[in-house]
Amino acid sequence: MSLTVCFTLNGEKISFNGNPSARLLDVLRFDKNLTGTKCGCKEGECGACAVIINGRLVNSCLVAAGSLGGAEVITIEGFSKTEMFSALEEAYASVSAVQCGFCIPGMMMASGALLSANPDPSEEEIRTAISGNLCRCTGYNAIVKAISIAAKQISHKNDSKSSENEYCRVVTCESASLNEALLLLKNTGSTPLSGGTDLMVSGSCDKQEYLFVNNIPEMRQIVADDKYIRFGAACKFTDVIENPLTPSILKEACLQVAAPAIRNAGSLGGNIANGSAKADSALIFMVTGSILRLLSADGERLLPLSEFYPGRGKTALAPDELIVEILMPRFGIDNYYYKKVGARNALAIARTSFAGIMDVEAGIIKNCAVAFGAVIDVIIRLPEIDKMLIGKTINEAKSVKEAYLAAYDEAIKPRPGRVGIEYRKDICMNLLRDFLESNGI
Ligand code: FES
Ligand code: FES
Repeated sequence: MSLTVCFTLNGEKISFNGNPSARLLDVLRFDKNLTGTKCGCKEGECGACAVIINGRLVNSCLVAAGSLGGAEVITIEGFSKTEMFSALEEAYASVSAVQCGFCIPGMMMASGALLSANPDPSEEEIRTAISGNLCRCTGYNAIVKAISIAAKQISHKNDSKSSENEYCRVVTCESASLNEALLLLKNTGSTPLSGGTDLMVSGSCDKQEYLFVNNIPEMRQIVADDKYIRFGAACKFTDVIENPLTPSILKEACLQVAAPAIRNAGSLGGNIANGSAKADSALIFMVTGSILRLLSADGERLLPLSEFYPGRGKTALAPDELIVEILMPRFGIDNYYYKKVGARNALAIARTSFAGIMDVEAGIIKNCAVAFGAVIDVIIRLPEIDKMLIGKTINEAKSVKEAYLAAYDEAIKPRPGRVGIEYRKDICMNLLRDFLESNGI
């Protein structure tokens, strides 16, 4: 199948006619001969392929060409013609922040994306911004220094200009309508793609037929009604982090998903629909009792997330259904505990994760809910055990604490995986105990 997609590349309007599932990385390097964008891992891990799309840093290996309708794409070739690039280049050279040809384009793109959005970053913010760019040999201290020098130099120059920074605009892209997408889904059975950070990693991604739902307006909005905050399923993790309606528990989990380039591309709907017990946002939606709004051309259904995963890698989504919104309760979720144990922050596939909610009103536990991720085939959520604490005072809860812990100890049986069973079991029980203790139990 081939498709024509129009977008702007380094300031020039272009139309790409070809396989819509092709990786942007390959389109840039092989079709456009823009070889400054490097290929390191094709899995979103190294940052060598980073470009700026609609003002945000994204790994081009995880972007399907068909998702780019109306987008503005800047590669290192485009960026190198800007004043900001010159300032960064000078600053990198001044402190010998020397990187090899594979790392440096991605490092420069990450530096530029940071300074466009945040002209005066702290050291921590700089380290976070480049956390998705891996260097296997040199180290990061000189780069951090260089970015900070460039920031000062740029802000000094801009004092007299007060102009908007070069890439900080977030552009609204061309969008298909929801009804159109539902009809296409019904008639073609294609796989919906809203982020791509999971689907594009699979080796067969360019042979798949995708339905691009990433720019459908209803699926990109975050609104609140009297009971729920309604998150459009195509919202990127960054959209969720930046929205003032987002409750802290979800914000914290989204911040820990991965480095910025992944957070800028990955979506809530994709995170939920991939059926993984490691999905960070799904854990939060599970423990908060969130509900999925599913639509097909034939109607709507509301399904609690707790009923969405029948088994490993499986979901209750019918082939013609789309996750359109996630409805998260607004109230009773402020007192939470969240911990994720992963190998590294920039691509932290959870080894084990835990979320707990304790809603206490007038001294009585009104709700207690806990969930464990990355332990068995599905997220563990056992309301029948949590009931042991509900309706009790904190003192009464103390008296059943050991029985409660024993019930979870009995129920949690980690499946074998790369990380040891006993280690993950210990983490689960330690986090559960810590959650109780943090609530005085
Ligand atoms: Fe490594 Fe894209 S090639 S993140
Ligand atoms: Fe490129 Fe270290 S400088 S891998």
